[in-house]
Amino acid sequence: MDEDCDYLFKAVLIGDSAVGKSNLLYRFAKDEFFLDSKPTIGVEFAYRSIKVGDKIIKAQIWDTAGQERFRAITSSYYRGALGALLVYDITRKSTFESLKKWLKELREFGGPEMVVVLVGNKSDLLHSREVNLEDGRSLATLEQVSFMETSAKENLNVEEAFLHMIHRIY
Ligand code: GTP
Ligand code: MG
Repeated sequence: MDEDCDYLFKAVLIGDSAVGKSNLLYRFAKDEFFLDSKPTIGVEFAYRSIKVGDKIIKAQIWDTAGQERFRAITSSYYRGALGALLVYDITRKSTFESLKKWLKELREFGGPEMVVVLVGNKSDLLHSREVNLEDGRSLATLEQVSFMETSAKENLNVEEAFLHMIHRIY
């Protein structure tokens, strides 16, 4: 255990390629955003410490490729993870339709107690929206997970999505 924190926990980001997983993490961990980020290859991770009550929680967030051919071994990616952000892109319906597949993987490899937050990213691109807010909300209710729309670009709800997950764990 780290000396400067009370709890260390692991969370994972999942969802199709180019939905904005890496940029959500850049925004949360470093307050950065890249318009021209490259697809992730293998696994990356970043840390951020958060104060919950009088405890310091250190979140270790893992980010992998949405593209199958760039993904690392699935079981090790999920191992020990207490939380997951399941991300789709509100401007691409296909990324919403893939959620069924991602949820299946989550249920197969993730622990039964894992806290899942469904995230509809790119809420800044309202004019090209293909997935209604209501569709995201209904799926989340059906699957009994939390839900939020975010924009990594405009820094909308990003902090809230991660903190919501962390607060539900602790
Ligand atoms: P893989 O690593 O291939 O799985 O993709 P990813 O899900 O990590 O996507 P990434 O974060 O690399 O973002 C893909 C593209 O979407 C980049 O061009 C980003 O700049 C853009 N992007 C990410 N988030 C947002 C957002 O909130 N709004 C807008 N407009 N663009 C975004
Ligand atoms: Mg990525």
